[in-house]
Amino acid sequence: MNVITADDGERQETANTRRAGRALIIAIHAATRSIKLYPPEHQAVQKSLVELASAALESRSVDADLELRVHGEFIFVNGTRLRLDLSNYASFGRVLELFRASGVGALRVIRDATPREWFSLLTLLTTVGASGAGDADELARRLHAAGVDAFEAAADVDAEADIEEREQAKAAARRTYAQSVALTKDVINSVRMGRVPSARKIKRAVQTIVDEVLTEEVSLIGLTTLREYDEYTYTHSVNVCIFAVALGKRIGMTKLQLYELGVGALMHDIGKSRVPADLLQKATALDDDDWRRITAHPWLGMLTLFQLRGQQELPYRAMVVAHEHHMRGDFSGYPRVIRQRSIAMSSKIVAVADAYDAATSRRSYQTKPYPPSAVLQEMRDNPRRGLDPVVVKAFITLLGIYPSGTLVVLDTFELAVVLAANPNPEMLSRPRVVIVSDGRGNLLQPPRETDLGATGQDGQFTRTIIKTADPDRYGIRVSDYVV
Ligand SMILES: [Fe+2]
Ligand SMILES: [Fe+2]
Repeated sequence: MNVITADDGERQETANTRRAGRALIIAIHAATRSIKLYPPEHQAVQKSLVELASAALESRSVDADLELRVHGEFIFVNGTRLRLDLSNYASFGRVLELFRASGVGALRVIRDATPREWFSLLTLLTTVGASGAGDADELARRLHAAGVDAFEAAADVDAEADIEEREQAKAAARRTYAQSVALTKDVINSVRMGRVPSARKIKRAVQTIVDEVLTEEVSLIGLTTLREYDEYTYTHSVNVCIFAVALGKRIGMTKLQLYELGVGALMHDIGKSRVPADLLQKATALDDDDWRRITAHPWLGMLTLFQLRGQQELPYRAMVVAHEHHMRGDFSGYPRVIRQRSIAMSSKIVAVADAYDAATSRRSYQTKPYPPSAVLQEMRDNPRRGLDPVVVKAFITLLGIYPSGTLVVLDTFELAVVLAANPNPEMLSRPRVVIVSDGRGNLLQPPRETDLGATGQDGQFTRTIIKTADPDRYGIRVSDYVV
């Protein structure tokens, strides 16, 4: 004799909900497609709507209520997550897309809807989605205006909470960044004026950066795209520090090592505050004497760090970075090396971060910064730069082939700004981007985030980068989208 337990009953109920839910999704997809293909009075449309209405009825009769919810990659019917399988893969993708585009996270069917009402709902869902409004309230308004009261639509609450959380993380990152720039400015200007800054303040700033990178790597890296021309001297140091610490984290450094690396990175060019400012900004060619004075900044930096108030609190390793960051792997750089030595790992990391930030920034003698992807390629392929190939490789994995802030053209002819690297090292050319204009060059309002690693129903990638583009040419400020 079979004994049916409460557990079995519950399992049976979930299975029923799933079965009815799957049928409902397939029916929604079929009806949406036929509405798109035929006029409303066409037999195929009518038939699909009748089937949809009865599939909905089925879902309701099982659970008495009907709520469709969409979150991330999942569809829930009455709180039960539907399972994807090969037979319903296409319908799921389309229905997810339909809900997402129209900004609807939850749809409640509050009474049995007629085929006609389903027709209105699906038509409105499609038009709200296509209009780019992406707003559940807008759908609710239009439903009401059409006199359809069988449905209630709401935005995805969880998605809103996610956005809120991300906004908070971004705000914290912006604070850290602004504070670090202010501190660097303070330290550099003190040295310029012959004062002796304190080591403690530097220490505190670096600790904040390390903490921030450890919890929220992406936000801080995004901020390095700001690269304000006027503030180059200060933002450069902060950017190098962020890149170096993020890279150190990737290669498995401990928190203490990251902190030492961070101090060295933030202070790597401190010696420049002892070089006349007009010389550093000179847009014309440098003569031998100018060159001699500029190339003195590594050892001047080392000296400056030794002279800080509370110097013994600063790690010795950090000071070495100031001294070594232009030496190059083959010692062809400066200062010249007389005795044999090996360059510290932190110095190699800072050299890579330094080269990247300098080449992608706008300065007096470099009015046009190079596109980030071209800079990375050059850093990898030009041996004369003397960068450590393993460190460069790790850096490319960190930033992706198309680093955050790169403007790219997609195979749909849309323009997009890169937000973050794909965490899968096999998919470096498929970052997360924000699409800023459609295929005809119209700016999207609001812009749309998407993952280039995403595939369509046919298993093909939905969008692919064809090339990078110059943001100036299109009048686009990439930092507006990234930060
Ligand atoms: Fe330097
Ligand atoms: Fe530098």
